[in-house]
Amino acid sequence: MKRISRREALKIAALAGGTILLPVGLQHRGYAQRVDQTVEPFTLPFRTPPVLNPVRSDSTTDYYQITMRKAQVEILPGRTSEIWGYNGIFPGPIIKQSRGRSSIVRFINNLDVNTSVHLHGMASSPQYDGYTLDFIAPGYYKDYVYSNPAAANLWYHDHGLAQTARNVYMGLAGMYIVQDQEELALPLPKGNYDIPLIIQDRQFASDGSLVFDNRNQTSVMGDVVTVNGVPWPRMEVANRKYRFRVLNASISRSYRLALSTGDDLIVIGTDGGLMSAPVNTQDIRLAMAERYDLIIDFSKYALGTRVELRNLPLPNNVVFNNIDKIMCFDVVRSETDDSLVPSTLRNIQFIPESTAVRTRDFTVQQRADGVWVINGNGWDRNRVDANPQLEEVEIWRFTNTANLSFHPMHLHLIDAHILDRNGQPPFAYERGWKDVFYVGENETVRMIGKFRPFRGQFMYHCHNMVHEDRDMMSQFQVGQGGIDPMSAPARPLPAPRL
Ligand code: C2O
Ligand code: CU
Repeated sequence: MKRISRREALKIAALAGGTILLPVGLQHRGYAQRVDQTVEPFTLPFRTPPVLNPVRSDSTTDYYQITMRKAQVEILPGRTSEIWGYNGIFPGPIIKQSRGRSSIVRFINNLDVNTSVHLHGMASSPQYDGYTLDFIAPGYYKDYVYSNPAAANLWYHDHGLAQTARNVYMGLAGMYIVQDQEELALPLPKGNYDIPLIIQDRQFASDGSLVFDNRNQTSVMGDVVTVNGVPWPRMEVANRKYRFRVLNASISRSYRLALSTGDDLIVIGTDGGLMSAPVNTQDIRLAMAERYDLIIDFSKYALGTRVELRNLPLPNNVVFNNIDKIMCFDVVRSETDDSLVPSTLRNIQFIPESTAVRTRDFTVQQRADGVWVINGNGWDRNRVDANPQLEEVEIWRFTNTANLSFHPMHLHLIDAHILDRNGQPPFAYERGWKDVFYVGENETVRMIGKFRPFRGQFMYHCHNMVHEDRDMMSQFQVGQGGIDPMSAPARPLPAPRL
């Protein structure tokens, strides 16, 4: 099946006020050709993305190189999909780093679109934060410097202005894990029992090509749930505990994770690293860009048991066949388990509410013209909405007075805590360091954070990337001055040796 050219796509996008990458013949048929009947859940083998080796290392720094490029990959069995991938894979390679060492990651753009790389969860200096206008043009590269000050599950993804949803949809997302000695010294499951789960929904045309359609300006949701790039995979496990680092890298879909057995998930970490103590819960609401670190204990199941990771209903998520499923675990072998979930994971110094110097209010809503905005405003590179001083503590209150949508609000630079939601305590499993705050339908969420360690201009936005692109994104400025986010521009290839 022939695909429409970029120029044709842009023309359609201009007419529709959105971007569309649709195979010819599908344009007006909407959801007529879906493959959800043809991929049987739990038939494809589970896998994890490869861990990227540094190009070289010295006493302080590991140097990595990632090329953004198109590739033809098999996501649906027997079909090929063109992706835009970090190193041409979907999702990108995993970077594993130790706290306190530095990473320099060279991103080379061999695509034919502008990109910008944001390492989500890293306190980055402004020029390395993936500012939405700090493009790496096709044929250019940029070296990003990261200091890795805290152990946590991060992820890198595209942040190009107004094209983030499309670029990430096409494949530009990957996990980045920072570990430290304190965490490694805990008796938690390690090595082959410490597993990333990157969840992304996609829609495919019958020929296997990815279908991206944001014309409704509200969401892009697929009917196929992939984990680490595999539709509804089946993982064989031993009857013991596993640690899963779960990331929702979807464009617009949130999930409510639960086990088919009704047994508890044990949450040990949030966006910003380990919790102070594990939290048992039957289900977890997981918005786009949120990360939870979970333990699942398979020791209670007889060999031969199948445990499904389910997705329970949540408002404003488009339902398809099998959207209630994510992956399955087949307990196939018996092993002794030397791991434990300690009752204390680490000591978190929660920020006292009394230390906040002010509260700021942000109403997140859809304007009458259909555009998603914060306090009535869309993106303006010349406007900053808030100017906390360096080291100041503030409370930000996000209010969603409608039931049209949920908004996972994300601030760059800082980790924060949720104080309350509609005046009630947050879910127990949210009581750790967070950089994404699920602002659900008719919810008001207050979070508290300290603005550090860098002065300068940073973005905050809804992580529904369709909203973010149009236009639920803005900026805050920490202190006065700071490094200009555009001050380390990408350079043309060829690049010197890393
Ligand atoms: Cu995960 Cu501003 O992004
Ligand atoms: Cu939103």
